[in-house]
Amino acid sequence: LEPVRRPRVIINCACSADGKLATFERRQTKISSKEDMRRVQNLRASVDAILVGIGTVLADDPHLTVKSEYLGRARNAGNPTRVVVDSRLRIPRKAKVLDGRAKTIVATASKSRKALGNAEILACGRRGKVDLRRLMNELSKRGIRKVLVEGGGELIWSFLRQGLADELRIFVGNLVLGGKDAPTVADGAGARSAKEAVKLRLIRTRKMEGGILLEYLVLI
Ligand SMILES: NC(=O)c1ccc[n+]([C@@H]2O[C@H](COP(=O)([O-])OP(=O)(O)OC[C@H]3O[C@@H](n4cnc5c(N)ncnc54)[C@H](OP(=O)(O)O)[C@@H]3O)[C@@H](O)[C@H]2O)c1
Repeated sequence: LEPVRRPRVIINCACSADGKLATFERRQTKISSKEDMRRVQNLRASVDAILVGIGTVLADDPHLTVKSEYLGRARNAGNPTRVVVDSRLRIPRKAKVLDGRAKTIVATASKSRKALGNAEILACGRRGKVDLRRLMNELSKRGIRKVLVEGGGELIWSFLRQGLADELRIFVGNLVLGGKDAPTVADGAGARSAKEAVKLRLIRTRKMEGGILLEYLVLI
């Protein structure tokens, strides 16, 4: 068996007081405060890769880059690599993560070798989905030591469920979004009982402008 090497994985997201990541129409909406956005920029600047699911790219079309004032002044301090988890290569050619402003890897289970501009297509499928364990191993081989997972709910659940995350940081904004169809911090199939749940240890809380930051270690 190949030794399992993986980068340190930090999950970060922002949710409403009722745990929603977006509206019931799955539209992105302002949950974070300015202070929290500064925190996220600094967090992004401290990692080697930022990873999201294809659901997030299709819903929000994020850039996933770091504003220049947050990029370290150290030598070669550039943007982290952007990674999209996209089993069936649904990513639109015009997606902002394909804008060439930073390196992008599209991890897929698809066998099609459709080129995506400058993006690297990384085949690491298992039963039609991206095998996250394999993906982490591949990123590690590329020198990536710290990964920030920015959502969405389905991908966050997979990382937690598969024991692939080290930390979970949640900014809980002072608002209620409601809606039974709104995405939550962890969607996917879910646990059958507390016994099956992913266990956390709360290591820090910080009251911030517009909400509270919860920082957990993910226990194995
Ligand atoms: N507030 C926040 O911090 C925040 C952050 C990010 C996103 N969001 C919101 O979250 C929503 C999107 O979340 P989402 O749950 O729909 O999508 P998502 O988690 O971004 O992406 C899920 C998709 O990733 C693909 N995937 C491939 N392999 C996977 C694996 N092993 N495990 C899990 N997923 C895998 C699957 O599609 P394929 O099978 O086609 O590959 C799956 O449907 C949007 O409404 C967005 O606005 C909010």
